[in-house]
Amino acid sequence: MSEAKNIVVLVSGGGSNLQALIDGCANGSINANIANVICNRPGAYGLQRASDAGIPHQCIDHTEYESREAFDLALADAIDGPANNQAADLVVLAGFMRILTPAFVSKFEGRLLNIHPSLLPKYPGLNTHQRALDAGDKEAGVTVHFVTAELDGGPPIVQARVDIVEGDDASSLASRVLQQEHHIYPLAVSWFVEDRLSLIDGKAILDDEILPPNGVDFAGEHAVG
Ligand code: GRF
Repeated sequence: MSEAKNIVVLVSGGGSNLQALIDGCANGSINANIANVICNRPGAYGLQRASDAGIPHQCIDHTEYESREAFDLALADAIDGPANNQAADLVVLAGFMRILTPAFVSKFEGRLLNIHPSLLPKYPGLNTHQRALDAGDKEAGVTVHFVTAELDGGPPIVQARVDIVEGDDASSLASRVLQQEHHIYPLAVSWFVEDRLSLIDGKAILDDEILPPNGVDFAGEHAVG
């Protein structure tokens, strides 16, 4: 097995996806070490999760910076800067609710993943579950994708689908989608750290094959029988 890679996870809130990654590293399904957790909101529970797991963590409060550029520079420095022993092999956005500058994205492109709670390219941006309900969709879901300059527009890696059922509201749907998030994010991260997944010429490549436009279908991948 190759040497464990260094991951940095960026969070803004509760950090349940962070927890899924912590658990995956602990149980060996992800061959990586979470080197740092960075949060832009003081007091967010994600920081507590990192602390409980004994993982280095820090808060970089975006409200203390004059501009998006200044905040992103501080963030990039915390991830890859001289203060660190090693550059991050992978930066994982896990409920990180800040739009990143093109300079930040280009610095980390190819080693920057995001999870977005919709079946991209549907519903980039916010309020995805409500928008799916309002549109009368029969299904919703979640996408892990490489981050590129276009908001929620980078190439999908893996998607999980969730049926929309009678009586669903945004919150019931979000909680079923979140359960799927906790499966597909560790999976995508494990592919990356095993050198099976990369971004080449703007395309997501898994095991030397260009992925389809929606990425791997998680249900298809894990179908029984
Ligand atoms: C998730 O729904 C994720 O898809 C979105 O933000 C939420 C974060 O949840 N980007 P958590 O903080 O990981 O619990």
